Parts: sequence; structure tokens; C-alpha cells
Amino acid sequence: MNIENYTSYAALSKAVAEAMIAAIKNKKDALICVATGNTPIGAYQQFVLDVQATGLDISKVRFVGLDEWLNLAPENIGTCYQFLHNYLFNPLQIPQHQYKLFNGLAKDMKAECSAMNEYLDLEGPIDLLLLGIGMNGHLGFNEPGTPWHYRSHAINLSETTQVVGQQYFNAPMELKKGITLGPADLVRSKKILLMANGIHKQTIVKRLLEEEPGIDLPASLLKNLNHVHLMTDLTV
Ligand code: PGA
Repeated sequence: MNIENYTSYAALSKAVAEAMIAAIKNKKDALICVATGNTPIGAYQQFVLDVQATGLDISKVRFVGLDEWLNLAPENIGTCYQFLHNYLFNPLQIPQHQYKLFNGLAKDMKAECSAMNEYLDLEGPIDLLLLGIGMNGHLGFNEPGTPWHYRSHAINLSETTQVVGQQYFNAPMELKKGITLGPADLVRSKKILLMANGIHKQTIVKRLLEEEPGIDLPASLLKNLNHVHLMTDLTV
């Protein structure tokens, strides 16, 4: 894992947007996996501005969603579906055939996971994977304890994730379950950017840097991989 320090959130966001643009310049139909949450907002805003200013051709780019809350209507403000539409797909008018997202309302979760696995087998590997880190070290909804050989799966969310997740919604929500790409899918990506922003992430980043890799700290999966960049505005 390479550590890249940035002096501000703006600088970190700019660097992530540049990496997205570089991936597309390198490969017109790059497959980019997009995380949601507060962390990548600045990067997506910068990416949208850059694409609009330069006219970069993104008509072949493919986006895949990292995860989704289960049992929430997609139009709910805090869903990953809604987030990605607000920050990426709508501003750049990206049509549906250019993105693949989990359906958090799917009746058959096994089938939903199989469909995502098939998509990645056919369209993958992911060229650029953008990740945040959860307060408990989760990656997507790969919560502490998730075996690293798992591919897409539905999961009971940890207490921490259920509480922290409330911030994305307008009203208290029941956030018991999620669906996510698995650790095995993540590590296959050609390039991985793990973003950690803000002082509230200091403790978990410190743990990541100090602890031996193990499933209790999902982000530690990335620790011994050369194609991972920890991008942070924290002093680490
Ligand atoms: P955040 O969420 O970007 O809103 O901090 C990160 C995560 O939980 O993975």
C-alpha cells in the first residue's frame, strides 16, 4: 500500500478526479467502481467540472456501484443509487447502459449477487476502484469479520454502520442490511484508491497502519498490495 498525503480535502479530491480522468484517457471504456458516502463527494464534483470543461469523451466509460442499502426505495436521498445520480450520473447525463448498480429492493438477493458476479466476470476486472474507509474499517459493506474470499453478498450491517449511516438520510432509517461487492472482487481491481478524509478517521487509519492484516479490520485486506494507494489529508 502506497501512502499519499494531501494538505487538504480539496487537494485529495483533485488528485482522485485526476486519477479518474487518467484511467479514462488510458482506456476509453474504463470500468470504474464508485463508492458513495461523504468522502468521494469532492472528487466527483471535481471530476464533473473537469469533464465538462475539457469535453473528455466519457461515452464508453462504465461505472459499477460498490454497495447498496437493502430494503430502501432507490429514490430515498441516502441510497447509493440516489447519491451516484446526484453527484455523477445526472450532472454528466450518463445513460443507464453505462452503469451497473445493485438493486437494494431485489426479491432474490442470491440472484442479485450472481448477476453482479457475472457482470464483473464479463466486463471486469475493475480498472479503477474508489473506496472510502468506514469508521469500523469496512470497505463498501464488507464489515469486520467478512471472509476475504467472498464475492458479492448481502450482509447484516454492524451497529456502527447502522448508526453512522443515519447521517445520509433526512429521517431516521432502519439500516439493517446491505449488499456489496466482496473482498475478492475488490482486490482484483487494477488500481485501488482508498480515500481517508477528516479527523474522525484518524483512529481507524492509525489502526490500519499499525495492525497486522486480518478480517476484523476489512481495510487491512489492502495493506500488502502494491496497487493500492491510501490517499489522505490526515497526518499519518
Ligand atoms: P464516509 O463513509 O465517506 O461517509 O465517511 C465511508 C464508508 O463508510 O465507507
